[in-house]
Amino acid sequence: MIALGCDHGGYELKQEIIKYLEENNIEYKDFGCDSTDSTDYPIYAKRVAIAIQNGDCEKGILICGTGIGISITANKFKGIRAALCSDCFSAEATRLHNNANILAMGGRVVGPGLAVKIVDTFLNTPFSEEERHIRRIKQIEEDTDITDAYPEI
Ligand code: RB5
Repeated sequence: MIALGCDHGGYELKQEIIKYLEENNIEYKDFGCDSTDSTDYPIYAKRVAIAIQNGDCEKGILICGTGIGISITANKFKGIRAALCSDCFSAEATRLHNNANILAMGGRVVGPGLAVKIVDTFLNTPFSEEERHIRRIKQIEEDTDITDAYPEI
């Protein structure tokens, strides 16, 4: 199950993504927004992040004007790894290396044709399961020890 969320800047692109998901029989839950009326992207980032945290959805797609605000918000949630992508290489790499569970895009940045290819790449690339990537993902969740990070301090 894919969780979808957007603000007004991402609404039109989300409709294109919905078309792609429906054509490919991919189940989704749409957490809003529902029009191009001005709204606040954190609302939708939070809904989608929580749907993934609680296991309702396996992955998410978030779209705002740039993809930046909505990904910053989603990444505040424990266990959420939201990757802002504007190209297929990054979408593939973030699945392989970061096991990203949310794809963020900018509705004012990428056109619908490219966005659908990015979504297709993101949804169809498995995590590599390589030890070094598992180790690094664990480090994301750990409290940072700045003594180790900056030994000269
Ligand atoms: C809304 O105008 C815009 O600020 C928002 O969609 C997003 O780009 C924020 O990061």
